Amino acid sequence: MSDVLADMAATGSNLHFHDLHPTPADMRAEVLVGLALPQKRISPKFFYDAEGSRLFDAICELSEYYPTRTEIGLLRDHGAEMARLLGRDALLIELGSGSSLKIRTLLEALRPAVYMPVDISREHLLQSATDLAAAFPALRVHAVCADYSTAFVLPVDHHAHPRAAFFPGSSVGNFDPDAAVVLLSRVGALLGSGGRLLVGVDLRKDVAVLERAYNDADGVTAAFNLNLLARINHELDGDFDLDAFRHQAFFNQAPSRIEMHLVSTRVQRVSVAGQTFDFAEGESIHTECSYKYSVEGFRALAAQAGFAPERVWTDPDELFSVHCLVRN
Ligand code: AVI
Repeated sequence: MSDVLADMAATGSNLHFHDLHPTPADMRAEVLVGLALPQKRISPKFFYDAEGSRLFDAICELSEYYPTRTEIGLLRDHGAEMARLLGRDALLIELGSGSSLKIRTLLEALRPAVYMPVDISREHLLQSATDLAAAFPALRVHAVCADYSTAFVLPVDHHAHPRAAFFPGSSVGNFDPDAAVVLLSRVGALLGSGGRLLVGVDLRKDVAVLERAYNDADGVTAAFNLNLLARINHELDGDFDLDAFRHQAFFNQAPSRIEMHLVSTRVQRVSVAGQTFDFAEGESIHTECSYKYSVEGFRALAAQAGFAPERVWTDPDELFSVHCLVRN
């Protein structure tokens, strides 16, 4: 990944776009390594091409997928208190900004000086940053297209402002706990001592509720999962037959995570970027983990990354949590 900034778009004077997006060669290398593992594996970060981002937005609207509406409810109900804790006039970094619906519920109260959404999905990021810059003309928006799971340098230095970060959607749950500690430690280093992080975290709950959320009746999550193979076909010259794989999602109790897989429905050989991979019938590609935490469990993880708990909000059904953490 290059750290050379490409100021690609400045559609309004308050919007700047910085492209640190991974190159196709980065994706090819990661996918080929993952498909060669005994348990084939592809990182969920590759879900989010334009179609994957569109399908993820559709997932967020599903009745079965409770996290989005529950988190938005918490942001609406407690936004004023959250904003008070994060402080005004901050440089606000948002990781995995997606459609910007969530930050909109906080912006009025937060009034940051600079808003820096960071997302891997270029078109999606550009669209939502453009809309947001138009809706808030006094706000300086620096959109950064980057893979935040790897180290990256902030493209603008605004030391004059206190720093705060917003990491919604329980995207932190898509990292194995060790990797989540590394990621949160990096966020902590960007924030500095005393910097605050507002992070959405999905909670442990009834298995049936969890499994329904990842096996919706309309098959949107299945389409989202299978789109990964379509993307590899387009971008990495793959020849996956999408009809020969099926979506699978289940809760794995011991590690406390939903696992998503793409299961081969027959013996087959697939070619990607000139390399071949054999599948037995029933063999899967593991495409996503989505860890579910207790409040205490997540606080213990955040402590390993140098964060102390300040406040946590949960809904009455205890489906979802939003934590305010302070960097030591
Ligand atoms: C983005 N992330 C937090 C979602 C989740 O719930 O783990 C991605 C997702 N996968 C299937 N449905 C939603």
